[in-house]
Amino acid sequence: MKRNANHWEGSTWKFWKTSQRNRCIRVLVVALSVICATVVLFAENPPYIPYINTFSSSGSKLSPHCANVSPIQEFSFYARQRSLAQELFNANAAAYIAEPGPSAAYFANISNSHWRLSERPLLLIVSPVVDDHGEVQANISVLSPKFETTRAKLLPIPGQSPPNFFEWAEDTDPYAVAVSTIHNLGSKPIYVDDSVRLFIAEGLQKASAGNLVASAPVAIRLLRERKSSEEIDILKCANEATLLAIREAREKMYIGIRESEAGKLIRDAITSTGLKDAYALTLFGENAALPHGGGTDRVLGAEDLVLIDCGGTLHGYRSDLTRTFALPGSIVSPQQLSIWNIVHEAQSTALNAARNGTITAAVDRAAREVIEGYGYGEYFTHRLGHGIGLETHESPYLRGGSSDIILPGHTFSNEPGIYIEGGIGIRLEDCFYIDENGEGQYLTAGVGGQANNPWDP
Ligand SMILES: *[C@@H]1O[C@H](CO)[C@@H](O)[C@H](O)[C@H]1NC(C)=O
Ligand SMILES: *[C@@H]1O[C@H](CO)[C@@H](O)[C@H](O)[C@H]1NC(C)=O
Ligand SMILES: *[C@@H]1O[C@H](CO)[C@@H](O)[C@H](O)[C@H]1NC(C)=O
Repeated sequence: MKRNANHWEGSTWKFWKTSQRNRCIRVLVVALSVICATVVLFAENPPYIPYINTFSSSGSKLSPHCANVSPIQEFSFYARQRSLAQELFNANAAAYIAEPGPSAAYFANISNSHWRLSERPLLLIVSPVVDDHGEVQANISVLSPKFETTRAKLLPIPGQSPPNFFEWAEDTDPYAVAVSTIHNLGSKPIYVDDSVRLFIAEGLQKASAGNLVASAPVAIRLLRERKSSEEIDILKCANEATLLAIREAREKMYIGIRESEAGKLIRDAITSTGLKDAYALTLFGENAALPHGGGTDRVLGAEDLVLIDCGGTLHGYRSDLTRTFALPGSIVSPQQLSIWNIVHEAQSTALNAARNGTITAAVDRAAREVIEGYGYGEYFTHRLGHGIGLETHESPYLRGGSSDIILPGHTFSNEPGIYIEGGIGIRLEDCFYIDENGEGQYLTAGVGGQANNPWDP
């Protein structure tokens, strides 16, 4: 049938214009309601972390990820110091002594970046005192080299203000001064942090003659091992930001890129999230079969998987993540895919096995049984995981032979791997914590948790 083209066009145009106007109005109404609903929803229930729609000027959507996560507050340090004093009091101990480092950072904000270790001791000395209300309080002292006292007094030590400062001159015995500062010493033991260097422990032992100088008991170690919700929030954000950084950097990778270039993409992406001290181990193809690297700067081939083990720090707390992935142009063999799936299953099984009251070795065993079941047991060559917090690797450890008991607040890496030297290396790592109900939860859950498949890390 022949139509009058102009007439057809004219009426269609009119109809189109009217329906277009109606559609515009409908779209506007819908958009307005969505905006209102969003405002109401977020006003009542602010989102945990704004990571999706915020773009920085550099085009990275990562930078604001942890902007609303606070560092450890002064009152939390105060609570930590009182808990330490209480444990010392319970153990009838005279004092706890630590060098600058993770434990001194935990109790008094004295990390290695605040004070580098040298042969001259600077010591944090905490002893319990019972106040007028019968409550146990921490008495905080710092022993410093005499010529460095002014600098020591600049340390940002929260809690008791000011702490007691004692100094040792170059021609005196620092340990004799340290021991002489401890009030109510009597014949009580002096406990030192696990990481105190041997010459310090020996010096204290010699100077204190009759007192036992020994490693702090488990109850004191547990104070730093078991994280508060404040610490968990920091660890969550650091690990989420790291996972987002891996995904963003992966988008920029291509077949033909070098390990060193891929490593730089990852470190830059981690740094753009606001994390400090970014590190990235980047291994392609058979280099990934050596869990800590091959030392060559390999070029990525189409048949290689990419293994990235990386992290950074937020307010002193560490992230640690490993992904083994393919790029859109990769050719993934059935063996690579099946090993990837086995490692993934081992990781899920381990998370379910880790709960309040479990022995750490049992979690390692659960992951290992999955891998053994598929006949790859001999290729899972390392322990399943480590504690994580102010240190990337800290106690307790998920390994065979370890009999530590898992408790709420404990944090671990969960990183099974299969390494066939000269061929394939696959490792997947997410850190998790034990929640108040005694269940394991991934610290990366806020951005999806575990990897889904080699193309969706
Ligand atoms: C801990 O030290 C940092 C400096 O590294 C400082 O910014 C922070 O305010 C200190 N924390 C407290 C609670 O004093
Ligand atoms: C805290 O320790 C210092 C140094 O030994 C001591 O002089 C002071 O009396 C102690 N404080 C209390 C309340 O015991
Ligand atoms: C964790 O286990 C201990 C015993 O090992 C028990 O006393 C405690 O109530 C448990 N806590 C939770 C949250 O399940």
